[in-house]
Amino acid sequence: MSGINYSEKIPNNVNLSEDRTLQRALEHWQPNYLQWWQEMGPEGSQNFDVYLRTAVSVDPQGWAQFGYVKMPDYRWGIFLNPAEQDRKIHFGDHMGEAAWQDVPGEHRANLRRIIVTQGDTEPASVEQQRHLGLTCPSQYDLRNLFQVNVEEGRHLWAMVYLLHKYFGRDGREEAEALLERRSGHDDNPRILEAFNEKTPDWLSFFMFTYFTDRDGKFQLCALAESAFDPLARTTKFMLTEEAHHMFVGESGVGRVITRTCEVMNQLKTDDVNKLRAAGVIDLPTIQKYLNFHFSVTIDLFGADQSSNAATFYSSGLKGRYEEGKRTDDHVLKGSTYKILDVSNGTLVEKEVPMLNALNEVLRDDYITDSKAGVERWNRLIEKAGIDFRLKVPHKAFHRNIGTLAGVKVSPDGRVVSDAEWSAHQAEWLPTDQDRAYVASLMGRVVEPGKFANWIAPPVMGINRQPVNFEYVRFN
Ligand SMILES: [Fe+2]
Ligand SMILES: [Fe+2]
Repeated sequence: MSGINYSEKIPNNVNLSEDRTLQRALEHWQPNYLQWWQEMGPEGSQNFDVYLRTAVSVDPQGWAQFGYVKMPDYRWGIFLNPAEQDRKIHFGDHMGEAAWQDVPGEHRANLRRIIVTQGDTEPASVEQQRHLGLTCPSQYDLRNLFQVNVEEGRHLWAMVYLLHKYFGRDGREEAEALLERRSGHDDNPRILEAFNEKTPDWLSFFMFTYFTDRDGKFQLCALAESAFDPLARTTKFMLTEEAHHMFVGESGVGRVITRTCEVMNQLKTDDVNKLRAAGVIDLPTIQKYLNFHFSVTIDLFGADQSSNAATFYSSGLKGRYEEGKRTDDHVLKGSTYKILDVSNGTLVEKEVPMLNALNEVLRDDYITDSKAGVERWNRLIEKAGIDFRLKVPHKAFHRNIGTLAGVKVSPDGRVVSDAEWSAHQAEWLPTDQDRAYVASLMGRVVEPGKFANWIAPPVMGINRQPVNFEYVRFN
C-alpha cells in the first residue's frame, strides 16, 4: 500500500487505476496544472536540472530519493499515509465512532471549504516566490527554493485528489478554480490575506518559510486529527514534507544573522549605516521583518472567537494541535479559554467558551512553537558576543483580524494612540527604505560553493552532499 506506483501517468499509492472515472478526471486536470506551473512556477527556471528529492514511498525510511529533475517533469502525485485499522474519531460529538471513509452529507460544505482553503495556500506560495530564483544568493539556496516550490505543488495535488474523489462535480470546479486564482490579483486573489502579500526578497522568503509554512504545519496537524480519514492520511504525509520548508526558513534566517554578526565583529560596530555600507542586513531590520511576518501569519488562524471553529471541532472535522496527547475530555463543552480584549485603553484577558476560542488555542500553540526557533537565532547572536536579542512581538501587535483588528498595539503589548503608532511605525515594521536596501543586496550568485555577501554558507549540504556541490545545472 505504501509503495508508490510510478508507472502510471499520475504517480500514486491509492490504486488510482481501479477507479477509472477518478483517474480520467485527474488526468484531465493534470495538463491544466502543468500549464499553471509553466505560467506561474519558478520564473526562467523550467529548463534547469535541479537536485531534488522525490517521494518514492511513504515509509519513514524510503520517501525521499534524490536526483536531477527538470521541474516541469517532477513526478507530482497522490500519496497518502497508510490507513490505520479501525481508526476511531477521538474528539467532538462523534467521539468513539468509526472514522469516516466518505464525506457525511451534513458536513460536506464545511469540509469542502476547509480543503479548498488549505489547497489555495499551496499554489499561492509558489506564485509569491516565482521571481526569487532570479536573485538567489547561492546554488544551494536556489535548490532549496525549488524543492519547496515543487512540494507546494504536490500539496495542491493532495487537496485536489480529495476534491475530485469525494466532492463530485463541485469538487472538480473547485479544483479548476484553484488554478485560476492568483496571489495578489485585484479581481481574483488567493483566499487568505498573507498569501496575497509579496515575497519580494530572500529575507522575506526565509521569514515566510519559517513563520508562514509553520502556520501550514499547525493547520495540517489540526486536520491530521480529522474524523474524515482520507483528509487525515493526506495531511499526515504533507507534514513530512513541510518540515523541510521550515528548516529552509530557520537555517536561512540563522545564516543571515551569522553573517551580520561576523561583520559587526570585524568592524566592531552596530552602526546601521556602516553595516549597510558593508553590505549586510543589520539586526534591527531583521527584527522588523520578523515583526511583519509574525503578525501577518498569526492572523491566518482567524478570529479569536469563531462559531465556525466550534462547529469544525464538535463535528470532528478539525482537531486541536496534538489532540491525541491532551488529557482533557476532547469534547470541551463547559471549558473556557482566555482571549484578549481591549478595555479602557488597555489589553485585558477575557474568559470565553473554549469551543468558540479554538482558533486562539491553535494560534497560541503556534506562537509557543515559533518562539523556540527565535531563541535558537538568539543563541547565534549571543555566541558572537553581541548584545542584541530578537523578540517575537506581542500577539496583539499589527493585527488585522478578530477583536484586535484596528487596535494599535506596540510590539511590547501597549495600546498606543494613532500619533504614537505613526511616530514609531518605522522602528516596528520594515519601511520602504528598508525593503529597498534589502532588495539592493539581491544579486544572483550561482557559482557552486559561492555565497552572496549578506549570508553565511550552511553548515552542511543537502543529502550529505558538500556545500559546493552542483545543486542546479543550468542549461
Ligand atoms: Fe504546503
Ligand atoms: Fe510548505
